[in-house]
Amino acid sequence: MATLTTTHQARAHLLGVYAPTPHLFVRGEGTWLIDDTGRRFLDFTSGIAVTALGHGHPAVRRALDEAAESGLIHTSNLFRTDPAEALARELAEHSGLDRVFFCNSGGEAVEASLKFARRWARRDGDAPERFGVVALKGAFHGRLFGSLAVTDRPRYREPFEPLMPGAVFIDAADPDALEKVDPSTIAALIAEPIQGEGGVRPLPDEVLRRFRQWTTRHGVALILDEIQCGLGRTGTLLAHEPSGVRPDILTLAKPLAGGLPMGAVLMTEEVAASVHPGDHGTTFGGGPLVAAVARAVLSEIATPAFLAEVRRKGDLLTEHLEGIRLRHPDRILEIRGRGLMRGVRLSTPIAPVVEAAQEAGLLLVGAGPDVIRLLPPLTVSDDEIGEAMDRLEGALQATETSRAVAS
Ligand SMILES: Cc1ncc(COP(=O)(O)O)c(C=O)c1O
Repeated sequence: MATLTTTHQARAHLLGVYAPTPHLFVRGEGTWLIDDTGRRFLDFTSGIAVTALGHGHPAVRRALDEAAESGLIHTSNLFRTDPAEALARELAEHSGLDRVFFCNSGGEAVEASLKFARRWARRDGDAPERFGVVALKGAFHGRLFGSLAVTDRPRYREPFEPLMPGAVFIDAADPDALEKVDPSTIAALIAEPIQGEGGVRPLPDEVLRRFRQWTTRHGVALILDEIQCGLGRTGTLLAHEPSGVRPDILTLAKPLAGGLPMGAVLMTEEVAASVHPGDHGTTFGGGPLVAAVARAVLSEIATPAFLAEVRRKGDLLTEHLEGIRLRHPDRILEIRGRGLMRGVRLSTPIAPVVEAAQEAGLLLVGAGPDVIRLLPPLTVSDDEIGEAMDRLEGALQATETSRAVAS
């Protein structure tokens, strides 16, 4: 109780939009977070898919030190700096897209992508009615007025309506629903190749290709949101790569700068040509320090050997999970996802399991009320995967007993 009171008092000046755990973290080492009592926790959240290289990776620290040493932390976009230009070139080379706009978060990247899509939709003169956006059931794209409008969460949306108008939600399991949408009112179709917050649900490649055909046929921008699933998480640098689809616009953020806030919107030359000076901007976007760190992150992740390791470790994680499922068939209903982005759907609410895992020193995050999301750093070791899975199974067992006691 004393701890709770102290925690409450310590947090008295933070806005109460989050409900963090009581542990106060003071250090990070690879896959581990260490609290102020010295207790070590296996971090299978990576700060919600952000710290892809783990905590305190030498490449990130080196880039931070060098950037700080140069004294060039911020200049504004009034002036040129090398890291942003170099990072944009590298992102273009890796993605097959042409131009990049830098911002500071995922929500901002989505917001910018919607503006660019509208600009492009009106490229052949005035088409004021062309502003709608097709989004998917279960989608999460952020909490700003545009990104929230294409997010399928009534609880997040309703208190703040009216949002950006024109969002139309369809079910990815029924792509025929697209044929009922009037394309002359639509500027963009936005989709996550793997829904993160929506429950770790991969979009089948054939559905993605169908979206590409429909958007191409009607001159609508295809926006892929890889803010959570992109940059190596699924075992390819970009999650949509296996589909062979080339989007018009691609959003990135979370892991891009190794834990520093950064978002990016990548686009084709055609989309870029419709955006003009003054159409959009942000003070901090693409600053030299964050861009230098992002270059270091990208050069670690974007190698065939690193990505092959992510795939191998993803398979190992699944093997462990399948083993647990065999031993607890009544608790685990489904295992979904790719690479090191996995969802475990339970037959019972996940909250007590997440809590029990934390007690056992394993940090987990949910994706909805019944899916546990596993997002370890991409640098996680085989032993850490094994250890985490032992702790997860222990948490399932512990909550099995309490379920039995409760009933
Ligand atoms: C797919 C996706 N898009 C956008 C966002 C919003 O990013 P941010 O929280 O950085 O605004 C998130 C955050 O979880 C996300 O998962």
